[in-house]
Amino acid sequence: MANKLVALAVLASLLGGVSCELSLSLSIIYKLYGYTTPILRPYPIRPPSPAPSAPQLLVGYYAKNTTCPKAEEIVRNAVKNASPGILAGLIRLFFHDCFVRGCDASVLLELTNDGIPTEMRGGPNLSLRGFEVIKAAKEALEALKECQGVVSCADILAFAARDASYILSGGYINYDVKAGRYDGFKSNASETFEELPPPFGDLSLTTSMFAAKGLDEKDMVILSGAHSIGQSGCSSFSTASIEPVLGKKLNETCGMPVNAATTVPMDYKTKDTLDIQYYKNVISNDVLFKSDASLTTSTQTKSLVETYAREHSSLERLFLGPEPWYRDFGKAMVKMGDIEVKTSKEGQIREKCAFIKPPPTPY
Ligand code: HEM
Repeated sequence: MANKLVALAVLASLLGGVSCELSLSLSIIYKLYGYTTPILRPYPIRPPSPAPSAPQLLVGYYAKNTTCPKAEEIVRNAVKNASPGILAGLIRLFFHDCFVRGCDASVLLELTNDGIPTEMRGGPNLSLRGFEVIKAAKEALEALKECQGVVSCADILAFAARDASYILSGGYINYDVKAGRYDGFKSNASETFEELPPPFGDLSLTTSMFAAKGLDEKDMVILSGAHSIGQSGCSSFSTASIEPVLGKKLNETCGMPVNAATTVPMDYKTKDTLDIQYYKNVISNDVLFKSDASLTTSTQTKSLVETYAREHSSLERLFLGPEPWYRDFGKAMVKMGDIEVKTSKEGQIREKCAFIKPPPTPY
């Protein structure tokens, strides 16, 4: 099994043909063998891509422009009974979809026409979860005549991430989702290594990978707040520089050598609540990833972290409502949802989210 995975990782890097991918694939191999600190070569700094523009997206798109006005309600019904872990998974699914080939549901494809392993087989995506909720939502939509072939899987992902954020934040995060995305035809596992920021990246690497998607450093700080929910595999981080009390707890749970199959909560304090605890954890170094801890390494990002960590007094809550992060998180999710959106000319509306239409012939 390990040999097969090693071969896959090498194949993925060869398919991409870029040296930094090879170093990342190697890091996956290192992880497979139980090392927690991957050996990495520096990434090339990417030029920022043009600012995301998606003029065709609209709030209330399905109610205004289609025969399926209940689309958002149907997705909400599929999401509402999911466990906190799956809800966290849905938020991450949307991020991983948008960062690789744009928000086009390429992360959901099991097979495409070129037979290349799809994104869901890429190392960073092996721990994604929540696929069954998206499938159930799509099935519920396709079961209604007026919704058949109408609602894109890319939009279902965007709605589900919003609904999950709403539930996990106790209703504090609540934003309108623009829709009208089309589903893509292509998906390539090796691109997940190129496009998704690694947990051991420093501030300049993470910032440049967000900039490549048209998101600035503030968006990055805001969206990283999603690490106040969900879980991480023990091989995704090293305890070397984590705050000692948490580090000890993590070492005990993860074992020595690290058991890659063991998972730990990303936020021990309020693990199932999407809240500003993350920013307090960044300040006290109670975070798992270098990418999280590195947010205090520049004056700009450190001051943002401190701003978002500050709790409103009860009087402020009364007059100003919840802390600014909850509103800013919604705005940043909307901005992320604009990344490289496909139009009807570049995409399609799939019938099943895991397959393009007509279904590809298996290789
Ligand atoms: C800033 C760069 C980021 C890095 C390096 C990063 C990395 C990671 C890693 C390594 C994990 C654990 C995976 C595992 O071991 O199973 C994780 C989990 C998670 N990430 Fe991120 N992430 C980043 C940004 C984001 C963003 C922008 C979002 C969403 C807005 C997000 C949402 C999540 C969630 C919700 C989980 C928990 C998923 C679950 O429990 O299934 N992350 N992230």
